[in-house]
Amino acid sequence: MIAIGSDHAAFGFKEEIKAYLIAKNCEIHDFGTFGPERVDYCDLGFRVGEAVARGECEKGLVFCGTGVGISISANKVRGIRAVVCSEPYSAKLSREHNDTNILALGSRVVGIELAKMIIDVWLNTEFEAGRHTTRIEKIACYEQQSEK
Ligand code: RB5
Repeated sequence: MIAIGSDHAAFGFKEEIKAYLIAKNCEIHDFGTFGPERVDYCDLGFRVGEAVARGECEKGLVFCGTGVGISISANKVRGIRAVVCSEPYSAKLSREHNDTNILALGSRVVGIELAKMIIDVWLNTEFEAGRHTTRIEKIACYEQQSEK
């Protein structure tokens, strides 16, 4: 199950990506927003982040105008490693090396076809583990300690 969410700036973009993924038989949980009315990107970033952190959804896709605000918000949820990308190379490496569990894209930054390519690469790339695991664990450890 893939969690998906966007603010108003990326609402149409989210709808196009959702249709694209459904056509590829992906299971989607859409957390909104559900119309063009203004909303705060952070609320959607938290919602998708929490669904992924709780294990209800395996991965998350979040969109806002730049991808920046919604990725910062998702990254505030414990256990989330969100990356904002505008090209496939970083998307691929973010899975292989950083085990990212949320991908953020900016609807005002990337065109829809490039977005689909980035998403395909990100969804289909596995974490390499090995030496990268220690670094992920270090981040998780820091996250836990800084919450005390
Ligand atoms: C909304 O205008 C815009 O600020 C938002 O979509 C996003 O780009 C924030 O990072």
